[in-house]
Amino acid sequence: MLNATSGKVRSHWQVSMSTKLFIAAILVISAVLFAGIFASLNMTDTSAPSAKKEPTQTTYTTEDVKQHDSKASCWTIISGSVYDITSFIPRHPGGEEILRACGTDATNLFKTRQTSDGQPVGSGSPHSSNAEEQLKKLLIGKIR
Ligand code: HEM
Repeated sequence: MLNATSGKVRSHWQVSMSTKLFIAAILVISAVLFAGIFASLNMTDTSAPSAKKEPTQTTYTTEDVKQHDSKASCWTIISGSVYDITSFIPRHPGGEEILRACGTDATNLFKTRQTSDGQPVGSGSPHSSNAEEQLKKLLIGKIR
């Protein structure tokens, strides 16, 4: 094509200086935007561990556990660890017997399925390893 002002021949692919500047500006703006998004994602990642403590780092007193002694909020202590077993209550194969654990140290009850004076609860034999696995998922901290 013939350029009217310069009289030079321009191909289809040749573009004016202002178009090039416009494209360059768009590229710079997108690079800055991407860098910003990337940096903000990184920031939320690094702040995550301090915002949400791991259960292994959280500690509670026996008084804290005592506050959660009902079906609506049931915490229990087993071997010095604290578990929030509320969500497991409706799924417990032994039904509402699990409520005996709410707000207390249920180490003996969970390990033996017997009361402190030796009365059997259900079979009166220890929970299975499957039960131990279910319990692990409900860990929220340790007793201090
Ligand atoms: C500490 C209070 C608890 C009591 C008194 C209790 C009692 C029982 C009873 C009576 C059964 C019926 C089977 C049988 O009689 O042998 C049972 C089964 C079961 N319980 Fe519990 N339970 C308690 C806590 C828990 C907890 C905290 C979990 C896990 C989060 C759990 C998981 C299971 C499972 C998986 C079974 C099926 C049988 C087995 O795997 O041993 N229970 N429980």
